[in-house]
Amino acid sequence: MLQIGSLSIENSLVMAPMAGYTNLPFRLLIKRLGAGLVMTEMVSAMGLAMGQKKTLEYLKSHEDEKPLGVQIFGADPQAMARAAMIAAEGGADLIDINMGCPVRKVVKTGSGAALLRDLKKAAAVISAVRRITPLPLTVKIRAGWSPKESGACDIARVIEDCGADALILHPRFASQGFSVPAQWEWIAQVKEGVKIPVIGNGDVFEPSHALELKARTGCDGVMIGRGALRNPWIFSQTMSLEKGEAIREPALQERKALIMEHFHLLSETLGDKRAALAMRGVLLSYTKGLPHSGRFREKVTSIKDCGTLAEAVDLYFSSLSEAQACGS
Ligand SMILES: Cc1cc2nc3c(=O)[nH]c(=O)nc-3n(C[C@H](O)[C@H](O)[C@H](O)COP(=O)(O)O)c2cc1C
Repeated sequence: MLQIGSLSIENSLVMAPMAGYTNLPFRLLIKRLGAGLVMTEMVSAMGLAMGQKKTLEYLKSHEDEKPLGVQIFGADPQAMARAAMIAAEGGADLIDINMGCPVRKVVKTGSGAALLRDLKKAAAVISAVRRITPLPLTVKIRAGWSPKESGACDIARVIEDCGADALILHPRFASQGFSVPAQWEWIAQVKEGVKIPVIGNGDVFEPSHALELKARTGCDGVMIGRGALRNPWIFSQTMSLEKGEAIREPALQERKALIMEHFHLLSETLGDKRAALAMRGVLLSYTKGLPHSGRFREKVTSIKDCGTLAEAVDLYFSSLSEAQACGS
């Protein structure tokens, strides 16, 4: 179990917010497959505060995915507070502030990881959100902007002092992108320096990595991103491993059924054609590292509707079944 403020989460595994991926259909699947907490992707506080229809759509949620975290980004304390209130009224169970996104479009507005180099502004943003809502509040950070600036421990103390209920650390500098391995020892250092729960994140690709991250850092929860895009079963598999039970690998038919369910859920909101396009990236993640996936992955770029998607998926899984039957 993971306790964040007043929220009791049934297990300590959290699906990472991921732009373009953690939409409602994917969150519903991931929740059913065992994640304790799911989150929206980063949502513009300004967009919410201004009532932009497209931005408000990110708040669409469903009872079956609860509890739901809504991640907001922005640099203006008032807009962030207003956005948190709108998210709370829209049904959020937890608010997360994005202080880790290194993308240029975001940092040039002073938002995301830019807040890591302006701790006064960061404190104003977190405090404004804290004052407006009693909802559990988390802040997701990288380890700092660069090795030359404030480090994770200083930033973590500011977050705690401003009243956040937990923090999430992805231990790379913003300036590093994904170019170096996540430095889990920084999670251990931050955990030692604060009293609020710390959720560790970064490079958890196998169930064993999640347990190792906990053991090596003492973190209270583990957030999984890319590992769950490749293997959405990673949450239940980690729980099995933690209980000393055998890890169950999904059968081919189960993988195929998940892909088709994902597509059908997406097409309910996006329509057939847009859902098929959105599935291209999803299919590349789902099949990364699977045997004989090279040809299929090439074909993915030509998927344009339900028919071409079903045909490509059918063909690939039939070839996998045949290969399995031959023992190759
Ligand atoms: C495609 C993609 C989209 C992401 N979108 C977000 C986002 O919206 N908000 C956020 O805080 N982090 C975002 N991240 C970062 C992840 O939440 C996570 O911190 C990072 O991927 C490290 O975890 P992992 O090694 O388990 O993937 C994104 C990462 C990727 C690869």
